[in-house]
Amino acid sequence: KEIFLRDYKPPSHSFAKVELAFDLREQGTTVRSIISAVPASGSTGELFLHGDESVKLDGVTVNGSAHERYERGSKGLTLKDLPNEPFELSITTTIEPQENTALEGLYKSSGNFCTQCEAEGFRRITFYQDRPDCMSTFTTRIEADKAKYPVLLSNGNLIDSGELEGGRHFTVWEDPWVKPCYLFALVAGNLGMIEDKFKTMSGKDVTLRIFTEKHNIDKCAHAMTSLIKSMKWDEETFGLEYDLDLFNIVAVDDFNMGAMENKSLNIFNSRLVLATPQSATDADYAAIEGVVAHEYFHNYTGNRVTCRDWFQLSLKEGLTVYRDQEFSADMNSRGVKRIGDVSRLRTAQFAQDAGPMAHPIRPESYIKMDNFYTVTVYEKGAEVVRMYETLLGKDGFRKGMDLYFQRHDGQAVTTEDFFAAMSDANGADLSTFKPWYSQAGTPRVTANGSYDADAKTFTLSLTQVVPKTPGQDTKIPVMCPVAVGLVGPDGKDMELTLDGKSVGTTTVLRFDKAEATYTFTGVEAKPVPSILRNFSAPVRLTTNLTQDDLVFLMANDSDAFNRWEAGQTLLRTLLLDLIKGDGQYKMDAAITTAMRAIIAGAKEPNADKAFIARAMMVPSAGELSDMLDEGTVDPAKIHEARTFVMKTLATELRADLEATMKANSAEKYSNEPADRAARSLKNTCIGYLSYLDDAAIAAMTYERFASADNMTDKIAALNSLSDKECDERIKAFAEFYEEWNKDPLVMNKWLGLQAMSNLPNNIANVKALMEGPAFDIKNPNKVYSLIGGFCASSVNFHAADGSGYEFLADVVIKLDDLNGQVASRMVSAFTRWKKYEPSRSSAMRAQLERIRAKKGLSENVFEIVSKSLEA
Ligand code: ARG
Ligand code: ZN
Repeated sequence: KEIFLRDYKPPSHSFAKVELAFDLREQGTTVRSIISAVPASGSTGELFLHGDESVKLDGVTVNGSAHERYERGSKGLTLKDLPNEPFELSITTTIEPQENTALEGLYKSSGNFCTQCEAEGFRRITFYQDRPDCMSTFTTRIEADKAKYPVLLSNGNLIDSGELEGGRHFTVWEDPWVKPCYLFALVAGNLGMIEDKFKTMSGKDVTLRIFTEKHNIDKCAHAMTSLIKSMKWDEETFGLEYDLDLFNIVAVDDFNMGAMENKSLNIFNSRLVLATPQSATDADYAAIEGVVAHEYFHNYTGNRVTCRDWFQLSLKEGLTVYRDQEFSADMNSRGVKRIGDVSRLRTAQFAQDAGPMAHPIRPESYIKMDNFYTVTVYEKGAEVVRMYETLLGKDGFRKGMDLYFQRHDGQAVTTEDFFAAMSDANGADLSTFKPWYSQAGTPRVTANGSYDADAKTFTLSLTQVVPKTPGQDTKIPVMCPVAVGLVGPDGKDMELTLDGKSVGTTTVLRFDKAEATYTFTGVEAKPVPSILRNFSAPVRLTTNLTQDDLVFLMANDSDAFNRWEAGQTLLRTLLLDLIKGDGQYKMDAAITTAMRAIIAGAKEPNADKAFIARAMMVPSAGELSDMLDEGTVDPAKIHEARTFVMKTLATELRADLEATMKANSAEKYSNEPADRAARSLKNTCIGYLSYLDDAAIAAMTYERFASADNMTDKIAALNSLSDKECDERIKAFAEFYEEWNKDPLVMNKWLGLQAMSNLPNNIANVKALMEGPAFDIKNPNKVYSLIGGFCASSVNFHAADGSGYEFLADVVIKLDDLNGQVASRMVSAFTRWKKYEPSRSSAMRAQLERIRAKKGLSENVFEIVSKSLEA
């Protein structure tokens, strides 16, 4: 059933207080819930409570007496003839967590109990108004076997605990802060723990704990450091201080998403907690830092102020992603962080925004809310928040945040409320900014600059068009902050004058019409414009910059993002020409020269090596595919063109690459930023060299694999071997398995690298891995690594005979019975079927139809499949 934003109605009852009691058993866990319910004015005496079909209802009482006037439907319970005064409602249910493979609600992971309630998992535990605008205080009593489950956790403060008969024990937790039930959490298990402390800015001591299975307890230090840094940063940046005496993180192996911000009891996918230099890569370390921060930041942006309904998801997610991006930028290299975030936006979100699942950051309808935890709601949502900062400045943005909390602390609100706080706090008229919330599709912006030497003016003409998306045929212009600088012939930023006013060296144009022209005056010499600095709006930009202009910006732009972007624009143009051409590949000498200069930059005394490594990267197959026309994409051609460019650059720049690799090879591992940067540069060089057909390179790469003292180097070397038909590849994968087969997180990497390989007929290997001991279809991480990895192979997933598509459909059909959320994430590899050339698109379409025909298909998969076929 489809749910619409326009149908929103406030709840019929508010819940003043909720008391839960869990009796955890190996079979038949019972849950008693006592709710202080308050009818809203005009109540009809009816109350609808959500509840999943898997929940057994044992009984309902109202004010202590059995209440039998209710109707149970497939989505829940309608209670009838209820009092018109406040009353006490008690509900008892029985659930079977040990059989829960959906990993929503209460389930077991590695023998321990845990929960995931966002978005609508609480209804798998008990009957409740499972909607975020129903906020209440919770008290939770947990009872379980003491030997099996010595640790019993829930939200808030521990207020009681003790022993019970029969080897059982209990704890009682009280959360003083009101919250919706999606923030409820419970954990029961045999877990180890590390503990630290944080003193808040007002001097309160907070106890910090991280729980994991005992054998992983030595892998939690980085997560703890990240948590402490996050707490400090939120105080310094936004004045936000933690509001309880205890903060817990629990790591579990079976988890659908990354992590969850349950009040004071964050639950994490273990891949985002556990790390040592030997078992985790630099990228893992960065992801852990970012996600620990993200979940911590939700305590204010999400928990203290939450969403009125799920259409408002970006209110908390866009804002919290923006906050974690800023945190990571402050902790690491800001420019490199921005480049990584924009790359991801372009590859994944731009593609979504141009396909059948395109939706505004505030969607208008959904069938299954889980399908809307998307790159659009999260990453484009974060860009929308970032644009307020660009428009209002850092101080203006902070004023808006302060007003937002002042007005809405303890409330469930909408994106309109956030918009109002930002506008009102700054006395700004941002009305033309609003369509960012309601319009799907990535605006296309063109920028044409021209210099008038006589008048000493530089004129920039901008146009914008928002493309049609499914269900949205007409669009209006939207306010795009376009940050612009003019770089003079000396390579320095010019002082800008616009409308007779001095506006510094970078100015933000508030571009909110279909067309507009801006004229800078007093421009003494012909400049090269640097447009959309720091990617100031999430748009597709086309400019009239020449190849010479781009080479100039690569060398001189003061804006790190645009320095990188200039090089990427050159590479994209070359690659797209090759892909669309007649198959006669030819390298552009200017690009080889530019790349040589980039690599040479690594020798400068204060070189930003992490930036250089990023600048050396050639646009991904995904990004290129997104830039091609509907009905034309041939992944084999993209792969060939990319391979040609990589191989040509590697051949021509071999000496530079080898020298840079050597100069940046450390004696010993260190986690200092400079060492991490050198490592990424070195590994980028190895990645290039691996394109050479030279036995010496394979031998050298294997040698580096075997002698690596850290996982970053191991994985980089393994990756560089994974597309090569050579003995070293076989040896390295076998040895890696021997060394790491006891560590499931490391095995995910092993599965993923093999699955992504573009070696011909690798599908047979993937099928064998699926049957092997390292795989488990019930574990989402394994599915994402092996099956998700396979979908990233241009050659094998997109094999011309359709075998890759058939395989994915088989897996989706199987997964659908176990875990609809994971199945729907996997089926998403088919959503853009229309993008491909006719034979591939019809093969994908046939698989979508086959999946749609499956009996008892989950709502999750049904929504993605039907929208893909119908759009
Ligand atoms: N709120 C979580 C986060 O962003 C994600 C929860 C995802 N849940 C889901 N059902 N998709 O940190
Ligand atoms: Zn989040």
